[in-house]
Amino acid sequence: MNETIQSILESGWNYRSARVLQVAGRLGIFETLCGGPLAATELAARCGARPAMLDKLLIACCALGLLIKDRDRYANSQIAETCLIPGRELYQGDMIAHAAHQWGFWTNLEDEIRLEPAPPADPQARHRDFILAMHNITLAGRGKAIVEKADLSGRRQLFDAGGGPGTYSILFCRRWPDLKAILFDLPETLVIAREILAREGLSDRICTRPGSWDTHDFGCGNDVVLLSNVLHGPASQPAMKLRKAYDSLVAGGMLLIQDFLLNDEKTGPLIPALFNVMVGAFSRSELLGHVDQAGFRDAAVLLELPEPGATWFVATKP
Ligand SMILES: C[S@@+](CC[C@H](N)C(=O)[O-])C[C@H]1O[C@@H](n2cnc3c(N)ncnc32)[C@H](O)[C@@H]1O
Repeated sequence: MNETIQSILESGWNYRSARVLQVAGRLGIFETLCGGPLAATELAARCGARPAMLDKLLIACCALGLLIKDRDRYANSQIAETCLIPGRELYQGDMIAHAAHQWGFWTNLEDEIRLEPAPPADPQARHRDFILAMHNITLAGRGKAIVEKADLSGRRQLFDAGGGPGTYSILFCRRWPDLKAILFDLPETLVIAREILAREGLSDRICTRPGSWDTHDFGCGNDVVLLSNVLHGPASQPAMKLRKAYDSLVAGGMLLIQDFLLNDEKTGPLIPALFNVMVGAFSRSELLGHVDQAGFRDAAVLLELPEPGATWFVATKP
C-alpha cells in the first residue's frame, strides 16, 4: 500500500486509537497498574469491567505502546508511567479525560455543520459502503500482492466464500486464464458484486451463488477455496467454515486464508489489535490450530502485509 493511501486511511480510522486511550483512562487502568503488574481478570475485577471486552482493550493498549505484557500479566509502559499516573510531573490524564468529554461533539459534527439534520443511516447504503470498502482496500495493494504470490497454475475452480465484491476472484481470474470462480455470498452483497463483475467484463468466468454459510455448503469439485476476511475470531464460526471448505475441495485442493491476525503473545500488531476490539481476531497459532483440526496439511504463512496488518495462509487438503 503506498504512503498516500496509508495516510488517508489513517485519517479515517485514527479515532479508534483515541478511543482506546480515553476509555482505558476512564476505567483507571493505568492508575490501577501503578501498584504493579496484574492479570486481566484481576484488572477487570478492580476496574469494574467485563473480562472479555477488557482483554481486547488491553491488547490494543499493548499495541499502542501504553502497556507491556509479560505472560498473562499487564504492566504500564514507560510512557504510561510518565504521562498517565496522577501526581506525576508530566501527567496528561486530565487532558485525555477532557478530550473524551468532547467525543459527543465530534460524533455530531455533521449535524453541527449541515443546515438540515443528516438523513438517517440507511441500512442498504451502509451495506453498500461496507462491500465497496472491501473493493477499495483490495485494489489499494493487497490484491496485487497476493495474486503475484499465490501459484494457482493448473487450478480450474475457485470458490470465493463470503467473496463480497468479488475483487479477489476478479484478480485471480485475470492472472490465471484457465480459472473460473464461484462467488458465494448473501443475496444483498451479490447485487453489488454483479455490478462490478459486469463492469470488469468477467461475468462469464465468475458466477455468483447466493446463499449463507449458516445453511448452505460450499459445493464440490473446488480446486481452491478462498476465505478472505471471514475468519474474524471465535464468533466467526471457524470450524464450520473450514469444514465446509474441506468437504468441497478435491484432494490436493488449496485453501487460501486472509485475515487480521494477532501475534501469539497478543500484544499487536496495531491494526489487528484495534480490529479485534470491535469484531474479533485470532492469533496466528489459534487460526493455524483451527486449520489443522479441520484436516488440512502443510499450513503456512504465504504473505504478510504489515500496513493493512493482513496475513495470508495457504494449506492443502490431503
Ligand atoms: C469482510 S467481508 C469480506 C469480503 C471479501 N472476502 C474480501 O476479503 O474482500 C465479509 C463478507 O462476508 C459476507 N457474509 C456475511 N455473512 C454471510 C453469510 N452468512 N453467508 C455468506 N456470506 C456472508 C458479507 O456479505 C461480506 O461480503
